[in-house]
Amino acid sequence: MQPVRIGLLGLGTVGGGTVNVLARNAEEIARRAGRAIVVEQAAVRSMERNRICSLDDIALTTDPEAVVRNPEIDVIVELIGGTEPARSLVLTAIDHGKHVVSANKALIATHGNEIFGAAGEKGVMVAFEAAVAGGIPIIKTLREGLSGNRIEWLAGIINGTSNFILTRMREKGASFAEALAEAQELGYAEADPTFDIKGVDAAHKLSILAAIAFGMPIDFDRVHTEGIDDITTEDIGYAEQLGYRIKHLGIARRSDEGVEMRVHPTLVPERDLLANVNDVMNAVLIKGDAVGRTLLNGAGAGAEPTASAVVADLVDVVRTLTTDPNHRVPHLAFQPDALTPMPLLPIEEARTSFYLKMLASDRPGVLADIAKILGESGISIEAVVQPEPPKGASLAKLVMLTHRVREGQVRAAVAKVEALQVIEGSVTSIRMERLDD
Ligand code: HSE
Repeated sequence: MQPVRIGLLGLGTVGGGTVNVLARNAEEIARRAGRAIVVEQAAVRSMERNRICSLDDIALTTDPEAVVRNPEIDVIVELIGGTEPARSLVLTAIDHGKHVVSANKALIATHGNEIFGAAGEKGVMVAFEAAVAGGIPIIKTLREGLSGNRIEWLAGIINGTSNFILTRMREKGASFAEALAEAQELGYAEADPTFDIKGVDAAHKLSILAAIAFGMPIDFDRVHTEGIDDITTEDIGYAEQLGYRIKHLGIARRSDEGVEMRVHPTLVPERDLLANVNDVMNAVLIKGDAVGRTLLNGAGAGAEPTASAVVADLVDVVRTLTTDPNHRVPHLAFQPDALTPMPLLPIEEARTSFYLKMLASDRPGVLADIAKILGESGISIEAVVQPEPPKGASLAKLVMLTHRVREGQVRAAVAKVEALQVIEGSVTSIRMERLDD
């Protein structure tokens, strides 16, 4: 049988890794897919650049349009990143009847609904396992392995750079700036590191996971997004004293009222598996009503881990090339006409616990005043610590953990606490999740 011919858009880290994995495991991949998979052509930005892979038998061009229109090519692998020209190229490829594999989270998060619609009309596949959590088969797991479940929530460490920075801050006492500089030196951060540290990259990924988990269209714009750039080594230390670690999580949860989609730093119990996922590793914890809590852990980026997901998608595409398009696994797990937009709960309606840190006058009655405000606001305190103040200091740090409560109640109470004469500056609040329900 003729090999399936691939056109790569981009031959950098992931493209090079994909070529290497396809070559190294060619025989087993062909046995799995039923046909050989060969890279026919690749669009590159510069012909001069050194590559991590062999270029034997791959025709290079600097014109990506030529690849997506090439009649000799069956499947386009889009590894350019960003939204344009990736979106136009993918739509052109679909229009020319080609299947698409993409590792592009920004593209799928912001234009996935449009792209899946176009692919549906043409009867071609768009596969995007590598767009979320690199080599971890999270899309496949949610879409197929757990398709008997009602997914209740998922929580993931889905940005390796943020995880690396928080790990360095905790283990080495590095400042945020020092840890970020190290992440950049090691090549972990996105070209624009604000996407990592401000939570945008994680929000892209979370919007894709939430859509697949709950059967709704992708809705990136409504993800509540916070990054890790306000987290200090002091907060990490206090959290640790209380038995928690700070992780940057993407959380999607549904209730009768609607869906929560939020990305933010989160205290998690130190014994929880997620708390022990360190460095650049990613992990996603899923709660299904039948399966219970299920954790997937692995490399969220890098040449071959990401290539692992790209090649798995290629094998899936090749296996189903001759299948009736209506009987393939739907892009977002649910049949396209069964996707249902769901009300999104504003962040004030999210129910979570809190870490609160404040600087207060060190004199009798202060703690009682604060506790009174929290109590009157319906907020139950789980723990309080007053770290030893420096000798002679008139101000004391107070750190509190609350039980789970509606976020709006905490926001209102924090405003009242900040208005107290005895409180200096603003209150630091970081959400906390036990991940056990
Ligand atoms: N910048 C991303 C991360 C790479 O740090 O996880 C993979 O999407």
